[in-house]
Amino acid sequence: MDMDKLSNNKNNKGQKMWGGRFSASPNEIMQEINVSIDFDKRLALQDIKGSMAHSSMLEVQGIITKEDMLQIHQGLEKIKKEILNLSFPFSHEFEDIHLNIENRLKELIGDAAGRLHTARSRNDQVATDFRLWVRDYLDNFELQLTELMKALLQKADENTDTIMPGFTHLQSAQPVTFGHHMLAYLEMFNRDKSRFSDCRERLNECPLGAAALAGTSFPIDRNFTSSTLGFSKPMANSLDAVSARDFALEALSAANICATHLSRLSEEIVIWMSAQFQFITLTDAFTTGSSIMPQKRNPDAAELIRAKVGRISGALVSLTMVMKGLPLAYSKDMQEDKEPVFDAFDSLDLGLKAMTGMINDMQPNKEIMKAAAGNAFSTATDLADWFVRKINMPFRDAHHITGKIVALAEHKGVTLDELPLEDYIKIEPKITKEIYSVLSPESSAKSRVSYGGTAPSEVKKQVKAWNNILS
Ligand code: ARG
Repeated sequence: MDMDKLSNNKNNKGQKMWGGRFSASPNEIMQEINVSIDFDKRLALQDIKGSMAHSSMLEVQGIITKEDMLQIHQGLEKIKKEILNLSFPFSHEFEDIHLNIENRLKELIGDAAGRLHTARSRNDQVATDFRLWVRDYLDNFELQLTELMKALLQKADENTDTIMPGFTHLQSAQPVTFGHHMLAYLEMFNRDKSRFSDCRERLNECPLGAAALAGTSFPIDRNFTSSTLGFSKPMANSLDAVSARDFALEALSAANICATHLSRLSEEIVIWMSAQFQFITLTDAFTTGSSIMPQKRNPDAAELIRAKVGRISGALVSLTMVMKGLPLAYSKDMQEDKEPVFDAFDSLDLGLKAMTGMINDMQPNKEIMKAAAGNAFSTATDLADWFVRKINMPFRDAHHITGKIVALAEHKGVTLDELPLEDYIKIEPKITKEIYSVLSPESSAKSRVSYGGTAPSEVKKQVKAWNNILS
């Protein structure tokens, strides 16, 4: 226990907001394990918003007087300013954000503050605050993903006919276009975006008014608070309203999938940046040097984004474990719901920004990519397809004969388009010199015109379609 906490405790007057039936103040360790203000202060603005809506509703319904409502609003506005200019006196003494704000309100406006908590409990209050907080982040992720998609689209547009090797098993497979590769990620991030928006839709029901767990006998208007706070409707079951955290689990799941996509792209950036590949260049703006090896230019941002999946999926597991055994309704375990979400969402927010920056910064080394695309017999499938198309060979036979040709080329140490026609003819007499027209990586890529394929003509169509959506 540090000095700070000890001195806090010394000043504790022992009178908790919930302390009516208690005659002694809590043990220091009880206090320490119970306090959440150090992290739930992040809900401050949402808490004020919720209290504004609640007190307005209480006044409209005749549960508190207009005078009290106005005093509460003035006090809350003042508190909001204090929060924003960092002068709010957060204190361990008052446990959490709800009691810190209510206590400050009491200091500022006196007795009227005590009326704010009518027909409300911290259980529906925290559920509302947390939903509002997660909702803000979901909206932020949708915006960030749109920015990232625009960056990828821009790179795709500039590289519809930039040839690179496509890989399976990280072995050269068939030539593809760099634009096509960029659009593959754009598609993934678009699905991430729709997962966040689906999640927002289900999240967007208002728990406020569920009170502790059973609802209230005061004549509240839950539709009023729900619509004031931008929710689509009040949650229909008060037990569910205070107990549900699936909105946070769902948001974390979507974040986890999105982080996985960011990580896969990061992994490619790391590979492409290596001296062995040199497929891309990142400028000084998005690389770091080594303190010992002067030649180094490291893609640290990509590595860190790749690593952040660990924290984000850890957060998902962590909250799942907190929730999985809890009976209805509220249990204090649920206070542990926030930190994993805060950490995961901060990490994703930063990861999305860093990835957008890197994509904007990245330049493909077109010549190196193209040369690599011609290596490793990457047009062997084109050769097999030629047999099928031109001499009506069944694909399985074509595959077999192509395999023999590849073995011969490998033996001679040449690429398929360097292998002399006599060698081809020795293996398959029906081969003509026309074959050379399908053996270059460009013609290979160009030929893949099926819908969604890698041909520049197809990629241009996709770029156009995405331009219409994103601009
Ligand atoms: N700080 C608490 C939390 O985050 C607020 C709710 C407390 N409710 C209660 N019944 N003690 O969960």
